Amino acid sequence: APVETMLGLDELQEAAESFLSPRVINYYGASSLDGYSLAENRSSFRKCRLVPRVMRDVTKVRPQTTIFGVPSALPIYISPASNALLGHPDGELNIVRGASKTGIVQGISAAASFPLSEILEEKSKMDQEGGNKMGMVYQVYLSRDRQKNVEQLKEVVEGGCQALLLTVDSNVGDHRQSTEKLKGAKGNAEPGTRMGPIENDHQWHDASQNWEDLKFIKELAPGLPIYLKGVSHIEDVRLAKEYGLAGCILSNHGGRQLDGARTGFDSLRSIYAQDPQLVKDVEIYIDGGVRRGHEVLQALAFGAKGVGLGRPFLWAQAAYGEKGVIRAVRILEREIVTAMQLMGVTDLSQIKPDMVECLQEIWK
Ligand code: FNR
Repeated sequence: APVETMLGLDELQEAAESFLSPRVINYYGASSLDGYSLAENRSSFRKCRLVPRVMRDVTKVRPQTTIFGVPSALPIYISPASNALLGHPDGELNIVRGASKTGIVQGISAAASFPLSEILEEKSKMDQEGGNKMGMVYQVYLSRDRQKNVEQLKEVVEGGCQALLLTVDSNVGDHRQSTEKLKGAKGNAEPGTRMGPIENDHQWHDASQNWEDLKFIKELAPGLPIYLKGVSHIEDVRLAKEYGLAGCILSNHGGRQLDGARTGFDSLRSIYAQDPQLVKDVEIYIDGGVRRGHEVLQALAFGAKGVGLGRPFLWAQAAYGEKGVIRAVRILEREIVTAMQLMGVTDLSQIKPDMVECLQEIWK
Protein backbone atom coordinates (compact mmCIF):
# COMPACT_ATOMS: atom_id res chain seq x y z
CA ALA A 1 0.00 0.00 0.00
CA PRO A 2 1.26 3.54 -0.72
CA VAL A 3 2.98 5.17 2.24
CA GLU A 4 0.36 7.97 2.30
CA THR A 5 -2.29 5.45 3.34
CA MET A 6 -0.47 4.74 6.60
CA LEU A 7 -2.42 6.55 9.31
CA GLY A 8 -0.79 5.43 12.54
CA LEU A 9 2.56 4.05 13.68
CA ASP A 10 1.06 0.62 14.25
CA GLU A 11 0.07 0.48 10.58
CA LEU A 12 3.69 1.07 9.57
CA GLN A 13 4.66 -1.84 11.82
CA GLU A 14 2.02 -4.08 10.24
CA ALA A 15 3.27 -3.10 6.77
CA ALA A 16 6.83 -4.10 7.72
CA GLU A 17 5.74 -7.33 9.38
CA SER A 18 3.83 -8.36 6.26
CA PHE A 19 7.08 -9.12 4.41
CA LEU A 20 10.03 -9.25 6.85
CA SER A 21 11.46 -12.61 7.83
CA PRO A 22 10.44 -14.11 11.19
CA ARG A 23 13.98 -13.60 12.42
CA VAL A 24 13.97 -9.86 11.74
CA ILE A 25 10.45 -9.45 13.14
CA ASN A 26 11.63 -11.22 16.25
CA TYR A 27 14.82 -9.15 16.52
CA TYR A 28 13.01 -5.80 16.30
CA GLY A 29 10.04 -6.83 18.40
CA ALA A 30 11.75 -8.96 21.03
CA SER A 31 11.71 -8.37 24.75
CA SER A 32 13.61 -10.08 27.54
CA LEU A 33 11.97 -13.00 29.39
CA ASP A 34 8.18 -12.67 29.57
CA GLY A 35 7.80 -9.20 28.06
CA TYR A 36 6.31 -7.69 31.20
CA SER A 37 8.15 -4.39 30.80
CA LEU A 38 7.51 -4.34 27.06
CA ALA A 39 3.75 -4.59 27.60
CA GLU A 40 3.82 -2.11 30.50
CA ASN A 41 5.58 0.43 28.30
CA ARG A 42 2.42 0.78 26.28
CA SER A 43 -0.12 0.34 29.03
CA SER A 44 1.51 2.81 31.42
CA PHE A 45 0.16 5.67 29.29
CA ARG A 46 -3.33 4.25 29.60
CA LYS A 47 -3.30 4.67 33.35
CA CYS A 48 -3.56 8.42 32.78
CA ARG A 49 -6.27 10.61 31.34
CA LEU A 50 -5.88 14.02 29.80
CA VAL A 51 -7.83 16.89 31.30
CA PRO A 52 -8.08 19.50 28.55
CA ARG A 53 -8.76 23.20 28.88
CA VAL A 54 -11.33 24.77 26.57
CA MET A 55 -12.19 28.05 24.88
CA ARG A 56 -8.66 29.17 24.23
CA ASP A 57 -7.40 30.44 20.90
CA VAL A 58 -5.27 27.65 19.49
CA THR A 59 -5.15 28.67 15.83
CA LYS A 60 -1.36 28.79 16.05
CA VAL A 61 0.54 26.16 18.03
CA ARG A 62 4.26 25.76 18.50
CA PRO A 63 5.37 22.15 18.87
CA GLN A 64 9.06 23.05 18.51
CA THR A 65 11.56 22.57 21.31
CA THR A 66 15.17 21.70 22.05
CA ILE A 67 16.26 18.07 22.35
CA PHE A 68 19.71 17.22 23.75
CA GLY A 69 20.60 20.85 23.20
CA VAL A 70 19.62 20.79 19.52
CA PRO A 71 16.61 22.63 18.02
CA SER A 72 13.88 20.16 17.10
CA ALA A 73 10.64 20.53 15.13
CA LEU A 74 8.81 18.32 17.64
CA PRO A 75 9.23 17.10 21.23
CA ILE A 76 10.26 13.65 19.96
CA TYR A 77 13.50 12.07 18.80
CA ILE A 78 14.61 8.80 17.23
CA SER A 79 15.97 6.48 19.93
CA PRO A 80 19.20 4.75 19.00
CA ALA A 81 18.40 1.22 17.89
CA SER A 82 20.74 -1.29 16.33
CA ASN A 83 20.80 -3.03 12.98
CA ALA A 84 18.41 -0.97 10.86
CA LEU A 85 19.88 -2.76 7.84
CA LEU A 86 18.11 -5.96 8.78
CA GLY A 87 14.89 -4.30 7.69
CA HIS A 88 16.03 -2.29 4.65
CA PRO A 89 19.22 -2.14 2.54
CA ASP A 90 19.71 1.58 3.33
CA GLY A 91 19.26 0.99 7.07
CA GLU A 92 20.41 3.91 9.21
CA LEU A 93 20.88 6.08 6.11
CA ASN A 94 17.08 6.14 5.80
CA ILE A 95 16.93 7.50 9.32
CA VAL A 96 19.58 10.15 8.61
CA ARG A 97 17.65 11.35 5.56
CA GLY A 98 14.22 11.22 7.18
CA ALA A 99 15.34 12.98 10.36
CA SER A 100 17.13 15.66 8.38
CA LYS A 101 14.12 16.36 6.16
CA THR A 102 11.72 16.62 9.10
CA GLY A 103 13.99 18.49 11.52
CA ILE A 104 14.07 15.99 14.35
CA VAL A 105 17.04 14.65 16.27
CA GLN A 106 18.25 11.14 15.65
CA GLY A 107 20.18 8.91 17.99
CA ILE A 108 22.71 6.68 16.28
CA SER A 109 23.30 3.34 17.96
CA ALA A 110 26.77 2.07 18.83
CA ALA A 111 25.48 -1.11 17.20
CA ALA A 112 24.30 0.56 13.99
CA SER A 113 24.67 -1.64 10.93
CA PHE A 114 26.45 1.02 8.88
CA PRO A 115 29.88 2.21 9.98
CA LEU A 116 29.78 5.61 11.66
CA SER A 117 31.93 7.07 8.86
CA GLU A 118 29.20 6.30 6.28
CA ILE A 119 26.47 7.68 8.54
CA LEU A 120 28.46 10.88 9.08
CA GLU A 121 29.10 11.20 5.37
CA GLU A 122 25.35 10.99 4.72
CA LYS A 123 24.76 13.54 7.47
CA SER A 124 27.14 16.07 5.93
CA LYS A 125 25.50 15.51 2.53
CA MET A 126 22.10 16.23 4.08
CA ASP A 127 23.47 19.26 5.94
CA GLN A 128 24.70 20.72 2.66
CA GLU A 129 21.44 20.00 0.83
CA GLY A 130 19.25 21.32 3.60
CA GLY A 131 21.46 24.29 4.39
CA ASN A 132 21.44 23.69 8.13
CA LYS A 133 23.03 21.34 10.57
CA MET A 134 20.82 18.40 11.45
CA GLY A 135 20.59 16.98 14.92
CA MET A 136 22.59 13.84 15.48
CA VAL A 137 23.51 12.35 18.82
CA TYR A 138 25.50 9.21 19.32
CA GLN A 139 24.87 6.38 21.74
CA VAL A 140 27.77 4.61 23.43
CA TYR A 141 28.26 1.67 25.71
CA LEU A 142 31.27 1.49 27.98
CA SER A 143 33.19 -1.21 26.20
CA ARG A 144 35.13 -3.89 28.02
CA ASP A 145 37.89 -2.96 25.62
CA ARG A 146 38.23 0.76 26.47
CA GLN A 147 40.45 1.32 23.46
CA LYS A 148 37.30 0.79 21.39
CA ASN A 149 35.67 3.73 23.17
CA VAL A 150 38.73 5.90 22.54
CA GLU A 151 38.60 5.33 18.78
CA GLN A 152 34.84 5.54 18.62
CA LEU A 153 34.60 8.83 20.52
CA LYS A 154 37.35 10.42 18.49
CA GLU A 155 35.23 9.81 15.39
CA VAL A 156 32.05 10.99 17.12
CA VAL A 157 33.63 14.27 18.26
CA GLU A 158 35.37 14.97 14.97
CA GLY A 159 32.24 14.01 13.03
CA GLY A 160 30.22 16.73 14.76
CA CYS A 161 27.72 14.69 16.78
CA GLN A 162 26.05 17.09 19.21
CA ALA A 163 25.62 14.94 22.32
CA LEU A 164 26.45 11.55 23.80
CA LEU A 165 23.88 9.13 25.13
CA LEU A 166 25.67 6.73 27.45
CA THR A 167 23.55 3.61 27.79
CA VAL A 168 23.88 2.31 31.33
CA ASP A 169 21.16 -0.33 31.53
CA SER A 170 23.16 -2.91 29.60
CA ASN A 171 26.11 -3.75 31.83
CA VAL A 172 25.39 -7.36 30.93
CA GLY A 173 23.48 -8.84 28.00
CA ASP A 174 19.85 -9.63 28.46
CA HIS A 175 18.07 -12.92 28.11
CA ARG A 176 15.78 -13.01 25.09
CA GLN A 177 14.14 -16.36 25.34
CA SER A 178 12.05 -16.00 22.18
CA THR A 179 15.13 -15.09 20.12
CA GLU A 180 17.11 -18.00 21.50
CA LYS A 181 14.28 -20.38 20.60
CA LEU A 182 14.19 -19.06 17.05
CA LYS A 183 17.94 -19.42 16.68
CA GLY A 184 17.69 -22.97 17.91
CA ALA A 185 15.04 -23.74 15.34
CA LYS A 186 16.45 -21.91 12.31
CA GLY A 187 20.16 -21.57 12.88
CA ASN A 188 21.88 -18.31 13.54
CA ALA A 189 22.86 -17.20 10.05
CA GLU A 190 20.68 -15.30 7.66
CA PRO A 191 22.49 -15.20 4.29
CA GLY A 192 22.77 -11.88 2.58
CA THR A 193 22.43 -9.64 5.61
CA ARG A 194 25.23 -7.56 6.98
CA MET A 195 25.16 -7.34 10.75
CA GLY A 196 26.83 -4.59 12.70
CA PRO A 197 28.33 -5.28 16.09
CA ILE A 198 25.18 -6.82 17.50
CA GLU A 199 23.87 -6.04 20.92
CA ASN A 200 25.00 -9.31 22.38
CA ASP A 201 28.58 -8.82 21.30
CA HIS A 202 30.10 -9.23 24.73
CA GLN A 203 32.71 -6.56 24.08
CA TRP A 204 29.98 -3.98 24.56
CA HIS A 205 28.81 -5.21 27.92
CA ASP A 206 31.03 -4.27 30.82
CA ALA A 207 29.79 -5.57 34.16
CA SER A 208 32.43 -3.48 35.94
CA GLN A 209 31.08 -0.13 34.74
CA ASN A 210 30.51 2.41 37.52
CA TRP A 211 30.21 6.14 38.18
CA GLU A 212 33.96 6.68 38.23
CA ASP A 213 34.07 5.69 34.56
CA LEU A 214 32.35 8.94 33.69
CA LYS A 215 35.68 10.72 34.01
CA PHE A 216 37.07 8.60 31.20
CA ILE A 217 34.08 9.30 28.94
CA LYS A 218 34.09 13.03 29.71
CA GLU A 219 37.76 13.34 28.84
CA LEU A 220 37.16 11.68 25.49
CA ALA A 221 34.29 13.98 24.62
CA PRO A 222 35.19 17.41 25.98
CA GLY A 223 32.37 19.89 25.60
CA LEU A 224 29.78 17.34 24.50
CA PRO A 225 26.73 17.10 26.75
CA ILE A 226 26.33 13.60 28.18
CA TYR A 227 22.99 11.97 28.95
CA LEU A 228 22.62 8.67 30.79
CA LYS A 229 20.23 6.35 28.95
CA GLY A 230 18.41 3.69 30.90
CA VAL A 231 17.89 5.29 34.32
CA SER A 232 14.95 4.42 36.62
CA HIS A 233 15.85 5.37 40.21
CA ILE A 234 15.60 8.92 41.54
CA GLU A 235 18.97 8.58 43.32
CA ASP A 236 20.64 7.83 39.99
CA VAL A 237 19.15 11.01 38.53
CA ARG A 238 20.59 12.87 41.53
CA LEU A 239 23.97 11.25 40.99
CA ALA A 240 23.90 12.18 37.30
CA LYS A 241 23.35 15.78 38.38
CA GLU A 242 26.21 15.59 40.91
CA TYR A 243 28.53 14.22 38.26
CA GLY A 244 27.72 17.21 36.08
CA LEU A 245 25.85 15.37 33.36
CA ALA A 246 23.30 17.16 31.20
CA GLY A 247 20.47 14.78 31.96
CA CYS A 248 18.93 11.33 31.94
CA ILE A 249 16.72 9.22 29.74
CA LEU A 250 14.29 7.26 31.89
CA SER A 251 13.90 3.96 30.08
CA ASN A 252 13.80 0.19 30.41
CA HIS A 253 15.46 -0.25 27.00
CA GLY A 254 12.19 -1.06 25.28
CA GLY A 255 11.69 -4.00 27.63
CA ARG A 256 14.83 -5.68 26.30
CA GLN A 257 17.05 -5.66 29.38
CA LEU A 258 15.69 -6.14 32.92
CA ASP A 259 12.24 -7.62 32.56
CA GLY A 260 9.99 -6.25 35.30
CA ALA A 261 11.82 -2.91 35.27
CA ARG A 262 9.57 0.10 35.72
CA THR A 263 8.61 1.96 32.56
CA GLY A 264 10.18 5.29 31.63
CA PHE A 265 6.84 7.03 31.99
CA ASP A 266 6.16 5.58 35.45
CA SER A 267 9.68 6.50 36.55
CA LEU A 268 9.03 10.04 35.37
CA ARG A 269 5.76 10.25 37.29
CA SER A 270 7.34 8.89 40.42
CA ILE A 271 10.40 11.14 40.26
CA TYR A 272 8.29 14.18 39.46
CA ALA A 273 6.00 13.43 42.41
CA GLN A 274 8.96 13.13 44.80
CA ASP A 275 11.11 16.00 43.56
CA PRO A 276 9.68 18.23 40.81
CA GLN A 277 12.68 20.55 41.06
CA LEU A 278 15.06 17.73 40.08
CA VAL A 279 13.23 17.37 36.77
CA LYS A 280 13.93 21.06 36.16
CA ASP A 281 17.56 20.92 37.31
CA VAL A 282 18.59 18.26 34.78
CA GLU A 283 17.00 17.49 31.43
CA ILE A 284 14.78 14.45 31.61
CA TYR A 285 13.67 12.40 28.61
CA ILE A 286 11.74 9.15 28.49
CA ASP A 287 11.30 6.36 26.01
CA GLY A 288 9.35 3.13 25.72
CA GLY A 289 5.96 2.35 24.22
CA VAL A 290 5.13 5.81 22.88
CA ARG A 291 2.98 5.40 19.79
CA ARG A 292 0.60 8.40 19.77
CA GLY A 293 1.01 12.15 19.98
CA HIS A 294 -1.09 12.62 23.09
CA GLU A 295 1.19 10.19 24.96
CA VAL A 296 4.06 12.55 24.21
CA LEU A 297 2.06 15.34 25.85
CA GLN A 298 1.43 13.18 28.93
CA ALA A 299 5.18 12.86 29.42
CA LEU A 300 5.75 16.57 28.89
CA ALA A 301 3.15 17.35 31.58
CA PHE A 302 5.43 15.74 34.18
CA GLY A 303 8.45 17.70 33.06
CA ALA A 304 9.98 15.53 30.34
CA LYS A 305 11.76 17.61 27.73
CA GLY A 306 11.17 15.09 25.00
CA VAL A 307 10.26 11.54 24.20
CA GLY A 308 12.18 8.92 22.23
CA LEU A 309 10.73 6.29 19.92
CA GLY A 310 12.72 3.23 18.92
CA ARG A 311 10.82 0.44 17.18
CA PRO A 312 8.42 2.67 15.21
CA PHE A 313 11.31 4.09 13.20
CA LEU A 314 12.86 0.67 12.62
CA TRP A 315 9.55 -0.63 11.26
CA ALA A 316 8.92 2.56 9.25
CA GLN A 317 12.28 2.47 7.48
CA ALA A 318 11.96 -1.26 6.91
CA ALA A 319 8.58 -0.82 5.21
CA TYR A 320 9.22 2.34 3.15
CA GLY A 321 12.85 3.42 3.56
CA GLU A 322 13.38 7.16 4.01
CA LYS A 323 9.74 7.86 3.08
CA GLY A 324 8.59 5.67 5.94
CA VAL A 325 10.66 7.67 8.41
CA ILE A 326 9.20 10.92 7.08
CA ARG A 327 5.69 9.46 7.23
CA ALA A 328 6.17 8.37 10.85
CA VAL A 329 7.23 11.89 11.81
CA ARG A 330 4.32 13.46 9.91
CA ILE A 331 1.85 11.13 11.64
CA LEU A 332 3.25 12.08 15.03
CA GLU A 333 3.34 15.76 14.12
CA ARG A 334 -0.33 15.75 13.21
CA GLU A 335 -1.22 13.89 16.39
CA ILE A 336 0.86 16.18 18.59
CA VAL A 337 -0.48 19.38 17.04
CA THR A 338 -4.10 18.19 17.17
CA ALA A 339 -3.72 17.01 20.76
CA MET A 340 -2.21 20.39 21.72
CA GLN A 341 -5.17 22.19 20.17
CA LEU A 342 -7.71 19.93 21.83
CA MET A 343 -5.88 20.39 25.14
CA GLY A 344 -6.10 24.16 24.74
CA VAL A 345 -2.35 24.86 24.65
CA THR A 346 -0.37 26.79 22.08
CA ASP A 347 3.07 26.10 23.50
CA LEU A 348 4.55 22.94 25.01
CA SER A 349 5.37 24.79 28.23
CA GLN A 350 1.64 25.27 28.88
CA ILE A 351 1.10 21.54 29.42
CA LYS A 352 0.95 21.18 33.21
CA PRO A 353 0.58 18.23 35.60
CA ASP A 354 -2.98 19.31 36.45
CA MET A 355 -3.92 18.47 32.86
CA VAL A 356 -3.16 14.78 33.35
CA GLU A 357 -4.97 12.66 35.89
CA CYS A 358 -3.59 9.23 36.70
CA LEU A 359 -6.09 6.65 37.80
CA GLN A 360 -3.88 4.50 39.95
CA GLU A 361 -1.47 5.75 42.53
CA ILE A 362 1.86 4.38 41.49
CA TRP A 363 4.46 2.61 43.49
CA LYS A 364 7.39 4.82 44.39
C1 FNR B 1 17.02 -0.92 20.92
N1 FNR B 1 17.46 -0.04 21.91
C2 FNR B 1 18.79 0.29 21.97
N2 FNR B 1 19.25 1.18 22.89
C3 FNR B 1 20.54 1.53 22.95
O1 FNR B 1 20.91 2.34 23.79
N3 FNR B 1 21.43 0.99 22.07
C4 FNR B 1 21.07 0.11 21.11
O2 FNR B 1 21.88 -0.35 20.31
C5 FNR B 1 19.71 -0.29 21.07
N4 FNR B 1 19.29 -1.20 20.15
C6 FNR B 1 17.95 -1.51 20.05
C7 FNR B 1 17.53 -2.38 19.05
C8 FNR B 1 16.19 -2.66 18.90
C9 FNR B 1 15.77 -3.60 17.82
C10 FNR B 1 15.25 -2.07 19.77
C11 FNR B 1 13.77 -2.33 19.62
C12 FNR B 1 15.66 -1.20 20.76
C13 FNR B 1 16.50 0.61 22.83
C14 FNR B 1 15.94 1.89 22.24
O3 FNR B 1 16.88 2.92 22.20
C15 FNR B 1 14.76 2.43 23.09
O4 FNR B 1 15.15 2.51 24.43
C16 FNR B 1 13.50 1.58 22.96
O5 FNR B 1 13.38 1.06 21.67
C17 FNR B 1 12.28 2.41 23.30
O6 FNR B 1 11.12 1.65 23.25
P1 FNR B 1 10.15 1.62 21.96
O7 FNR B 1 10.00 3.01 21.43
O8 FNR B 1 10.80 0.70 20.99
O9 FNR B 1 8.90 1.07 22.51
